[in-house]
Amino acid sequence: MRPTTPAIRWLSIALALIAVAVGRALHAWQEPATSVLSHALHVVADAIPALPLAAVAVIGGSWIGRRSGIPRPVATAALLAAGLIPAAAMHEALALASASVHGHGGSEPAHAVSVAHAAGDAVPAFFAALAAATIAAGGPGRRRFRMRIVRVPRVRLALALAALAATLPVRMPVAAAAVDPFTRPLVIPAQLTGDDIAIEMREAEVQILPGRTTTMWTYNGTFPGPTIRRPSGRTTRVTFTNNLPAAAGSTTVHHHGNHSSSADDGQPASHLIPVGASRTYTYDFMEDGAPERAAFQWYHDHRMDVTGRNVWNGLAGMVILDDPVDAALSLPSGAFDVPLMVADRSFDEDNQLNYVFNPSGVRGNTMLVNGVVQPYFDVAGAKYRLRLFNASNTTEFTFAFADGTAMRQIATESGLLPAPVLRTAIKLGPAERAEVVVDFAGRAGKQIVLRNTTGFGGLRDVMRFHVGADVADPSVVPATLRPADPVPVPPITQTRLWTLTQSLAGDLVWSINGLPYDADRIDTAPLNPRLNSAERWIFVNTTPVNHVMHIHDVDWRLIRRISAEPYPDDALLAEQGLKESFLVRPNEVVEIVSRFTDHLGTYVFHCHVLEHEDRAMMAQFQVVP
Ligand code: C2O
Ligand code: CU
Ligand code: CU
Repeated sequence: MRPTTPAIRWLSIALALIAVAVGRALHAWQEPATSVLSHALHVVADAIPALPLAAVAVIGGSWIGRRSGIPRPVATAALLAAGLIPAAAMHEALALASASVHGHGGSEPAHAVSVAHAAGDAVPAFFAALAAATIAAGGPGRRRFRMRIVRVPRVRLALALAALAATLPVRMPVAAAAVDPFTRPLVIPAQLTGDDIAIEMREAEVQILPGRTTTMWTYNGTFPGPTIRRPSGRTTRVTFTNNLPAAAGSTTVHHHGNHSSSADDGQPASHLIPVGASRTYTYDFMEDGAPERAAFQWYHDHRMDVTGRNVWNGLAGMVILDDPVDAALSLPSGAFDVPLMVADRSFDEDNQLNYVFNPSGVRGNTMLVNGVVQPYFDVAGAKYRLRLFNASNTTEFTFAFADGTAMRQIATESGLLPAPVLRTAIKLGPAERAEVVVDFAGRAGKQIVLRNTTGFGGLRDVMRFHVGADVADPSVVPATLRPADPVPVPPITQTRLWTLTQSLAGDLVWSINGLPYDADRIDTAPLNPRLNSAERWIFVNTTPVNHVMHIHDVDWRLIRRISAEPYPDDALLAEQGLKESFLVRPNEVVEIVSRFTDHLGTYVFHCHVLEHEDRAMMAQFQVVP
């Protein structure tokens, strides 16, 4: 047998310490801890997949060392390196299977596919396991497999301490001054209602956290930008002026959910607004010869490659389109009609937004509602129309009241449902909206928390409603709202299959039918959709993570979802209305139909996880005569 020399022992300790440091750094970079408890649970969950790897490396390394004369730490390290890929795979499987235990980044780890992340997790956990095995077995070098717990040599003690350090919870420097939840009032963004609207994109100092203001890229100096509220069918011109710093570059504004002409749709690579320039977007708010359906929409930057950065920095605002059908229903209105833009962000020690592009998606650790951290909202004892909107780059939210208060969902992102749907939990992917009516009558003095039940730490509580005395409430929620299909769909003339794909060659790239976005390619050519024809589109998700497929120009009707994990009944009922963004889970098939009315020209469709979109998960269709 070949004794281990002191030099090799010290080398192995140094390697262990380096691995620990690298592992911790990778881990903290990927997933800032939201609380000590969530981090502790996380480390335990991480150590489980690392244990078999550690056992294989220790036993195998020892065996190989004995046979070959290769120093055991070297053999062990080689086995460790070879085992990292399967460990990473196991890690992801475990993370997906145990979202509730595994406190990833404040929300479900649906998009956690990064090998760097898994390596960051597995390396420190591996050394914890290795040290335990080493101590139990008597350590490398002599008298293997004899218990020597009483006289632990210095080398092994150091190794064990290093391993312990590896599993200690670390906390990333997050916002220096954290905000206590429910201490700040909800803010309702200002409304712009005229035929001609001017909005300036500019850098502004926004007070979000206590102390230093946050420098943001804004529409008119606020986050969210002003809410555009218009009667449908009335032509509206919105002039956007780009006065952002030069670093922002050219921008483009997409009115998300609207039936805009191709030129006014906020194209990602054309019709841009250079810094210093303006562009007027004209919206007639008409669809197929009639005013558009009332809907809760939004506007945001859509510049190719940097949409994630631009929206994260603040370029987003809401739109409310009203129409006589919606108004005639006597739903809660005025002060009882409340838009809620919910988005996660994170901040550095100087209270600045720290956007670091990550193709898996960028998540925050701080919950903002209309730009306010976990606000409270004083409500009267009456019915409220709450317009829930997930404006996050990546994070999915599941909205539910902590005390089980029921929500009657009345609308999707494309307007009113055929009938209200009783919900206790509503999951929304990025860009999705759901309008609900909640009745606070008879609950004076109660404080009711709205929660994101799939979130952790700072992303768990959304906001709190402080209920006051009952007031006269003339509003009603009728049993029928709006027919499911105001536009009869003619025979389907085309079925298109869109496979959601990814490639890991070098860097993670997302694609549709294997092709990353190309502004010069029309993905429906040569058989482009004909004006006024109806088509069936089928999305198939072959990747291991969720996507939210959003199609510009027209609204769609869900025909069916096919997946191993069925949607709950209430969620399926709530998808009976028209929609323009659809969550597509791994291995799921989503079939939708629509008809291409009014506008000719090129439009995009894409995943609305903004970093997936920026990393090319976007394609183009062209409506032809
Ligand atoms: Cu809200 Cu093409 O996006
Ligand atoms: Cu859109
Ligand atoms: Cu995606």
